[in-house]
Amino acid sequence: MAAVKVTTVSGLAEDAPAEFDDVDGTDIVLVHTEGEIFAIGALCSHAEVPMVDGEVEDCSLECYMHGSMFDLRTGAPLSLPATEPIPVYPVTIDDDDVLVDVANPIPYKES
Ligand code: FES
Repeated sequence: MAAVKVTTVSGLAEDAPAEFDDVDGTDIVLVHTEGEIFAIGALCSHAEVPMVDGEVEDCSLECYMHGSMFDLRTGAPLSLPATEPIPVYPVTIDDDDVLVDVANPIPYKES
């Protein structure tokens, strides 16, 4: 399946995570920050709470429940208690449209 339109750039406020459910069967959160848009899975890898309620900081998203930070570029957990990544997905901007390819998550590389 190819990338599908999820929303528009102008519809995403800076540093305000927004959840979109059932994007080709996958729930995702989009984050518009530092001039880019990132797509990350909707649930924390630690205890499956909604990432949409987290804070954006330095290209990462903090889980509100226990405070783990996740890198929006890679999905990597940057702080405990989470130890597993959250999937991240390729985002393409076409004019004002935001397209996400949930069928092809960005391969995770441990740093
Ligand atoms: S539920 Fe996210 S860090 Fe615990």
